[in-house]
Amino acid sequence: MRKKKVFTLMTVLAMLLLAACSDSGSGKVIVATDAAYAPFEYLKDGKMTGFDIELLEAVMKEAGVEYEVKNTGWEPLFTSLNNEEVQAGISAITINDKRKKTYDFSDPYFESVNMIMTKEESSVASAKDLDGKKVGVQTGTTGQEALEKLFGKNNENIKKYESNVLAIQALLNGEVEAVVADNGVLQEYVKNNPDKKVKAIEDKENFESEYYGIIFPKKSEHVKDINKGLKKVIDSGKYAEIYKKWFGEEPNVDVLKQ
Ligand code: ARG
Repeated sequence: MRKKKVFTLMTVLAMLLLAACSDSGSGKVIVATDAAYAPFEYLKDGKMTGFDIELLEAVMKEAGVEYEVKNTGWEPLFTSLNNEEVQAGISAITINDKRKKTYDFSDPYFESVNMIMTKEESSVASAKDLDGKKVGVQTGTTGQEALEKLFGKNNENIKKYESNVLAIQALLNGEVEAVVADNGVLQEYVKNNPDKKVKAIEDKENFESEYYGIIFPKKSEHVKDINKGLKKVIDSGKYAEIYKKWFGEEPNVDVLKQ
């Protein structure tokens, strides 16, 4: 009797294990993100939302790909891709040559540029004015790269933070005099937080135009389908709908086609 029970238990366990394995083998694409970059990806009432999250949903639907978003944080997003713990990433990630050496990207889906955020009373008017001042930036972003290009790689005035939220926090509590991050994020922050008395400053001379893409490990089998999905979402007007919802204006989709 007892033996039989143990046997049944083992069978049930084995079946559960099998079910769990076949589920992960069923091809659900895990997409990593750093949900601390509003309005692109952030947590609202504990749920992930944002432009990227909604765009991804539309693209995956068109591509017929089953997926799940995982909030890994920024640097772990890249290591999770390296370890093949995740199969893709969406996180306002700029497509650039350095990253293209290690990863594949979808076609571009958003145009962006770095901007400077300071307290309202700051005299900073351009990136050059940041010289000799402490500037906060999220580690491993194009903002960091732009600052290093201007002020040198090991410049100790460049203060690196794990998330952009922490970089902004450092500005608010006076640890740094400015933050450099993507325009979409900084402009959104300024607009939504009038009480914080901060402003966003553009500098087209020192910050280049960038394009976001969905990131994949090299030679990913998913790039083709997801690009097809993205194209459909753009051509059908769904992209414009999502864009308007998040940015309150019509997108210029032509810039994505160059
Ligand atoms: N676009 C910049 C980059 O790719 C910053 C992206 C940061 N994204 C985020 N979710 N924290 O480096």
